[in-house]
Amino acid sequence: MRNPNMFTTAVVLASLLSVASAIDRTTVAEQSAISDPAEQCTTYNFPPIEEEIPKFPQVFTKATILENDDVARAKFEEISSKIPDIAPKKEGDIDNYDTDQDSDCWWTATLCTQPKAKDVLADISLVPEPQTLGYGFDDGPNCSHNAFYDHLTAQKQKATMFFIGSNVLTWPLQAKRAMDDGHEICVHTWSHPQMTTLSNEDAFAEIYYSMQAIKLLTGATPTCFRPPFGDIDDRIRAISNSLGLTNILWQFDTNDSVPGPSGEVEEANIQKSYLNFIEAANNGTFSTRGAILLAHETNNLTMQQAINFYPQLRAAFKHIVPIGVAFNKTQPYVEQDFKFPDFAKYIETEVTTVQNGTPSTGTIGTTSSTQSSVVSPASSTSGTPPSIPISISTASSGSAQAALPTGSDNSPDGLVRKMTVNASFTPKGVGFIMSSQNDGNGAESLSLSSTAVVLVPVVLLLL
Ligand SMILES: *[C@@H]1O[C@H](CO)[C@@H](O)[C@H](O)[C@H]1NC(C)=O
Ligand SMILES: *[C@@H]1O[C@H](CO)[C@@H](O)[C@H](O)[C@H]1NC(C)=O
Ligand SMILES: *[C@@H]1O[C@H](CO)[C@@H](O)[C@H](O)[C@H]1NC(C)=O
Ligand SMILES: *[C@@H]1O[C@H](CO)[C@@H](O)[C@H](O)[C@H]1NC(C)=O
Ligand SMILES: *[C@@H]1O[C@H](CO)[C@@H](O)[C@H](O)[C@H]1NC(C)=O
Ligand SMILES: *[C@@H]1O[C@H](CO)[C@@H](O)[C@H](O)[C@H]1NC(C)=O
Repeated sequence: MRNPNMFTTAVVLASLLSVASAIDRTTVAEQSAISDPAEQCTTYNFPPIEEEIPKFPQVFTKATILENDDVARAKFEEISSKIPDIAPKKEGDIDNYDTDQDSDCWWTATLCTQPKAKDVLADISLVPEPQTLGYGFDDGPNCSHNAFYDHLTAQKQKATMFFIGSNVLTWPLQAKRAMDDGHEICVHTWSHPQMTTLSNEDAFAEIYYSMQAIKLLTGATPTCFRPPFGDIDDRIRAISNSLGLTNILWQFDTNDSVPGPSGEVEEANIQKSYLNFIEAANNGTFSTRGAILLAHETNNLTMQQAINFYPQLRAAFKHIVPIGVAFNKTQPYVEQDFKFPDFAKYIETEVTTVQNGTPSTGTIGTTSSTQSSVVSPASSTSGTPPSIPISISTASSGSAQAALPTGSDNSPDGLVRKMTVNASFTPKGVGFIMSSQNDGNGAESLSLSSTAVVLVPVVLLLL
């Protein structure tokens, strides 16, 4: 800075800012009532934990066992003998890793979930119940998550939240809200590193201090862990298992945190991934066992996509449950006073219809559809299918169901079909799930997306 007055001004401004940010907030209700994202993300002091903060590593820096933390040190010594002798991975190791032998069961290299080491638990990467989605979100609590959590509450939907310890300490009331709202809280490390690259001690600290932070805010010690990027091997499995945690991976990724060719996460790619997944759900992929889908609480985009696609997930799956529930884990935390229903109990009271209100509901108008493109022969399973125009009159985001006039598929096979469409839409795009039932005994379904908003030709694929 060339001008000393400018410097003074900057110092005064900086101190004003720090005074302004030193507000206190004390209740979840108070924090949850804030709708402006910037205000939600204003740093605040939460007096009940102020004195505890020095007992934790600095937020968003790689955790390590703190000097003088005899309890953590003793715990680490206690579990050390259970950790297999596997060297921390280095950059480039993946290129030379023997994936056939896969001696470390390194998920990043091979998607291995069945450990090679003794006394290490297999990872969970799907849920056993058919047509069931184990619903979870990584990286929270996000400071501005109220719209998302309000949505989950409105849908009476519980989920599994994989929390970053640094976020928990930085946004304590947001973390407490997850517990108050009845979500399942799991550990997602202190600072989101690639776990297999860390020393035993640092890997331990990343998990241990996150568990302590969650315990400090919620009174509950978690029993589940998800490694960032899925980067886990038998060494990391052993460390988390020794801390009482089950490891949870996934088989499907919304790609809501995967950068596209532009280097940015692309909304269109997220939408494509959700729709692929929904198509898989509709074509019988989960008829014998369910799925775990990776999605994030990281930012507005990831949370908004979760909201936008909720109606279609709801329609595509019979049950959407926290992951622990799908495993009948009725005691989700170490402390006995927290209870969850088992799967059977949960689904007894599960709300399986999309609740109006959030997101705002729009309308789908149907137009009569008499036109058709080239028709396929009645007996054929391929060919160019007929199409049906549907006009959508909304400028906002939302979801809607509509029944099309019976027979409007204009199908070439002479069968009369009853059709329904579930759609969710945003100003930028529309996603559909459509089902048709013919007057024989076949049920047909498809899903597709379109970026057109006003008049969307829906292509009906006749199976
Ligand atoms: C939360 O989401 C907001 C909005 O997308 C974003 O600005 C912020 O960086 C996110 N991060 C955290 C830690 O809450
Ligand atoms: C996410 O992207 C990967 C890589 O492009 C792709 O293989 C995967 O199918 C996508 N996820 C879904 C659910 O489509
Ligand atoms: C179901 O849909 C998914 C996602 O598009 C696809 O990968 C899979 O091959 C389909 N399976 C069947 C049996 O059609
Ligand atoms: C994302 O940001 C928009 C614009 O501020 C807001 O209307 C919307 O509620 C936000 N969505 C979520 C999930 O926070
Ligand atoms: C559409 O939504 C309704 C109500 O949520 C549901 O009963 C129906 O099965 C859904 N249809 C499709 C094709 O997903
Ligand atoms: C959960 O309990 C039900 C009985 O209520 C049982 O059928 C199911 O197999 C159990 N699931 C698991 C993963 O143990």
